[in-house]
Amino acid sequence: MFPLALLYCLLMLRETLERGQHATDAALDRLIPLETEPPASIHKAMRHSVFAGGKRLRPILCIEAGRMIAGSLPAGIEDLGAALEMLHTYSLIHDDLPALDNDDLRRGRPTCHKVFGEAIAILAGDALQTQAYEILALLKCPPESRVRIIAEIAHATGTIDGMIGGQVVDLEAEHSHPAAEMLEYIHRSKTAALITASLISGGLYAGANDSQVQKLRAFGLAIGLAFQIVDDVLDVTQTSEQLGKTAGKDTASEKATYPALFGIEASLRKADALVDDAFEQLKTFGGRGETLKELARFLVERKN
Ligand code: IPE
Ligand code: IPE
Ligand code: MG
Ligand code: MG
Ligand code: MG
Repeated sequence: MFPLALLYCLLMLRETLERGQHATDAALDRLIPLETEPPASIHKAMRHSVFAGGKRLRPILCIEAGRMIAGSLPAGIEDLGAALEMLHTYSLIHDDLPALDNDDLRRGRPTCHKVFGEAIAILAGDALQTQAYEILALLKCPPESRVRIIAEIAHATGTIDGMIGGQVVDLEAEHSHPAAEMLEYIHRSKTAALITASLISGGLYAGANDSQVQKLRAFGLAIGLAFQIVDDVLDVTQTSEQLGKTAGKDTASEKATYPALFGIEASLRKADALVDDAFEQLKTFGGRGETLKELARFLVERKN
């Protein structure tokens, strides 16, 4: 790519990320009860974890999928993005609990249970989940799309090929040396499923047809797996300060990860190959697919 074209792409990507983060944060702030709202402890805990500076990648993928399908920004889609971010944050609060990964640091802050205690942290995760479904039920899109969005997201965060199923096998695979197929199952379920649902729900909100949904699904599964491979690599290569979460945690817990099974170089090659596969899925969208392609590249090149 010519240096000028490269600079243009970087500026566009920065604009997409900042615009998406801003829209998501504003929606979250409007939707989540104030810290002073009784019972105050739970609302403080929810806000502590949500407003700790996450990258907001799932809402941004959702919004940009919606924009790609509709050709312009669909009104009200930021509420869908906020619900996805609340579900993601709930998964992080629970992932960090002593009974799961037992982490002290998240998004550069002490984890929810470190500040508010385990009981409130468990309930804050539960509360983010239930409130997310209330927001989804009130989305400003046709009722048939709303129902499909809710079913898609509920399945992606559930036990069959979804986030909870992946978290269960992730925990059960600690201290073992799982086969490559098992590792792929864990990563696709615990991480790629919600990333895929973010893209599909954004598309459905904008009126995507079945063949467009199929393309978004294939794109999401590829970049979602690449995303978790890179998360595993960053755990080995970055510092806790850079990550905002404890570095080296996977090795210490003997987690089943791509670098542990294949090494860092081969893991990064695999992530790159998945992004190339993902690009193929967007061909039918022509120029409108460029923003999602930029985001896919960012997912594997990020440093935190
Ligand atoms: C971290 O997700 C958990 C994984 C699924 C790997 P992110 O890297 O998107 O975390 P935040 O939201 O930016 O904190
Ligand atoms: C977590 O995977 C995936 C979730 C469903 C939260 P990790 O355990 O690798 O996430 P981090 O590294 O703690 O963010
Ligand atoms: Mg985990
Ligand atoms: Mg973890
Ligand atoms: Mg990790």
